[in-house]
Amino acid sequence: MKQIKLDLSKAFSKTSGFISPDVFDTYKLSTEEHNNSLHEKTGRGSDYVGWVNLPNEISDEFLTDVENTAKIIRDKNIDIYVVIGIGGSYLGAKAVIDALNNNFAHLKGDKPAILFAGQNISEDYLAELRDLLKTKEWATCVISKSGTTTEPALAFRVLKQDLEEKYGKTEAQLRICAVTDASKGALKTLANEESYKTFVIPDNVGGRYSVLTPVGLIPIAVAGFNIRALVKGAKDMVAATGAKVPFEKNIACQYAAARHALYTEGKKIEILVNFQPKLHYMSEWWKQLYGESEGKDSKGLFPASVDFSSDLHSMGQYIQEGERLMFETVVSVENPDREVIIPKDKANLDKLNFLSGKNVDYVNKMAELGTQIAHVDGDVPNIKIEIERLDEYNLGQLIYFFEKACGISGYLINVNPFDQPGVEAYKKNMFALLEKPGFENETKMLKGRIWKVPVVNV
Ligand code: PA5
Repeated sequence: MKQIKLDLSKAFSKTSGFISPDVFDTYKLSTEEHNNSLHEKTGRGSDYVGWVNLPNEISDEFLTDVENTAKIIRDKNIDIYVVIGIGGSYLGAKAVIDALNNNFAHLKGDKPAILFAGQNISEDYLAELRDLLKTKEWATCVISKSGTTTEPALAFRVLKQDLEEKYGKTEAQLRICAVTDASKGALKTLANEESYKTFVIPDNVGGRYSVLTPVGLIPIAVAGFNIRALVKGAKDMVAATGAKVPFEKNIACQYAAARHALYTEGKKIEILVNFQPKLHYMSEWWKQLYGESEGKDSKGLFPASVDFSSDLHSMGQYIQEGERLMFETVVSVENPDREVIIPKDKANLDKLNFLSGKNVDYVNKMAELGTQIAHVDGDVPNIKIEIERLDEYNLGQLIYFFEKACGISGYLINVNPFDQPGVEAYKKNMFALLEKPGFENETKMLKGRIWKVPVVNV
């Protein structure tokens, strides 16, 4: 089992906008200090650094409880497990499950399919999900740390009724698992009243850092994956990026330093790149982690993502020749799980016989290398993260690596990486527009503003 590798060799260049090794080295002390304050709980938002040592604190008993719960759910022979949650209460599980699953798991009929709800407020999405569930055997897990988030609460209200109608109250209660705060929130109150199997999200772990708590582990275990290997990967990365591991060996400090150096030299966008469609949601998780952690006080890299080679035929043009605002961080998977050998074709009309006998991943790797050279030539610095394969152990490493580097990165730009005050603004307006009791003043002000917008006739 290999440790994931960080290659910064293409992030350095004499060309304007790339990092110079000298500048990079200036971050040695600060990243080490910030890493230390994460461990010592002396930095901003230190009430929420429970994730830093979490992998080492996960007990065997707890993992057994999660596994047993997953087994009880799987033994009900369900077709679909609906995971209800949004943001940090959804993306980590989705990222890991998609990265590990067969690309066509749902169509193959692998059971249970893990579907998500409460991650949007689309009426069509919910209606179509309900239609589907009518014809299937199903159970659900509702995840909300605060227990009060509107999107999952709405979805749960609807789906809970459907489940009770389908199976009766008592059986429905056995088919619902709640993951929430230890003591507060509406979901906790309901879970107690209805005697749902309940798991606790630790107080000191925020949503986007919670994938290695029951938030991620329950859905991942129900999907049939090895949560022990996932935790082991994370544990090994805790050791590899610990407070005593010097900058020269500490890939979390180095990644944080590199992206910060690029940011201060004018690169305002970091694009996370993959060449494996299974990693699409890993990028979505990463965007939430970095976007919510860094984007505040008018600071922070804008986290974007692309799926190559698909997006080389769309965003590739902009990255090659558009505004020079970005650098790329490529998650490169060394070994595919499967092999497809390119056959020889007698007619050779597509002129691809020169590739016959080679495997498809060889072509993918050459696309990756060719893209790296082209984009670096086009003034897009490149950071590469290499992982051996898409399995639980490597994903555990990757998740913790990104979390640790994110905490350090937030401290480098002097923000609190563990709050998200900005997400309250839309909620306040939405509640005011919905005329929620208690928001009367805001409703009046907002409606006054909206109704004054002039209508322009064309
Ligand atoms: O990272 C975060 O804290 C957020 O994205 C939350 O996870 C998200 O808003 C959902 O919150 P909750 O779990 O309280 O429903």
